[in-house]
Amino acid sequence: MSTGIHYDEEWSQRIVQIYSTPDVVAQREAVLSTLDLQQGEYVLDIGSGPGLLAHDIAKAVGQTGMVRGIDISDAMVALSEERCSNLPFAEFQVADAAKMPYSNDEFDVAVSTQVYEYVKDVSASLNELYRVLRPGGRALILDTDWETLIWNTSDQERMKRILAAFEEHCSHPRLPRILAPKLRETGFSIQRQDVFPLFNPKYHTDTYSHGVIDFIASFVSGKGDIAPRIIKEWAEDLRDLGKRDEYFFGINRYLFLVAKPVAGKRFGKTQGN
Ligand SMILES: C[S@@+](CC[C@H](N)C(=O)[O-])C[C@H]1O[C@@H](n2cnc3c(N)ncnc32)[C@H](O)[C@@H]1O
Repeated sequence: MSTGIHYDEEWSQRIVQIYSTPDVVAQREAVLSTLDLQQGEYVLDIGSGPGLLAHDIAKAVGQTGMVRGIDISDAMVALSEERCSNLPFAEFQVADAAKMPYSNDEFDVAVSTQVYEYVKDVSASLNELYRVLRPGGRALILDTDWETLIWNTSDQERMKRILAAFEEHCSHPRLPRILAPKLRETGFSIQRQDVFPLFNPKYHTDTYSHGVIDFIASFVSGKGDIAPRIIKEWAEDLRDLGKRDEYFFGINRYLFLVAKPVAGKRFGKTQGN
């Protein structure tokens, strides 16, 4: 399956809107608390997107630290640069998670939230993550298992059809369940695995799932194999359930905190440049 969304300006703005809701702000707080960043640390954000997390990271490590972000989308890199323009120790560039422009062992910490489910070659990308992290360094990876999505609906068949079409928005919609063995194969030791649920028992504009309705409708409409009328009725049904106080949405994201062992495998000459 190929990556279904390229985050151009329009898709990047949709992510900014959804990722600014209290649901995803709370996720970033959980990520930061798990990372336990210290002043002066060198941190890499892989697939930094609009730079919301990178900005928080920069505040945590301060100007004696360093933040680098890469993203495959130039629109996303532009948003990160704008957000962190007053933080000169935070820099961003367009690059692929599977081939990063950094030296071996360069970072104390790396983080990648909601990115590996999009990359084509997860194993190559995890090898790159391992290479650029210093021995003893730590990394946090967070991804969604889209099969954990529960959404109340008046029409189960229509919901199934829409969600099946939406699965193609990323390369690996069930990545979390197979990630721990992949991380161990790469050479990491797993320090912690956790679930981060996003739960919206009410239909409310300032929630993750409210933004996701339009996100899904736009993606599925663009594919063209479900009639626009059906997509419209699907979205209207969710709003109607909200009005009747019968709305219910839940999905799980999974968090992995890993370490690169001090005596782990070594790389020879720099591979990323
Ligand atoms: C859903 S957004 C998440 C953004 C950010 N990590 C966050 O949590 O706010 C997914 C991001 O991954 C980026 N991405 C997808 N494939 C990539 C790849 N192979 N290398 C680097 N970035 C990639 C996308 O361009 C997009 O910015």
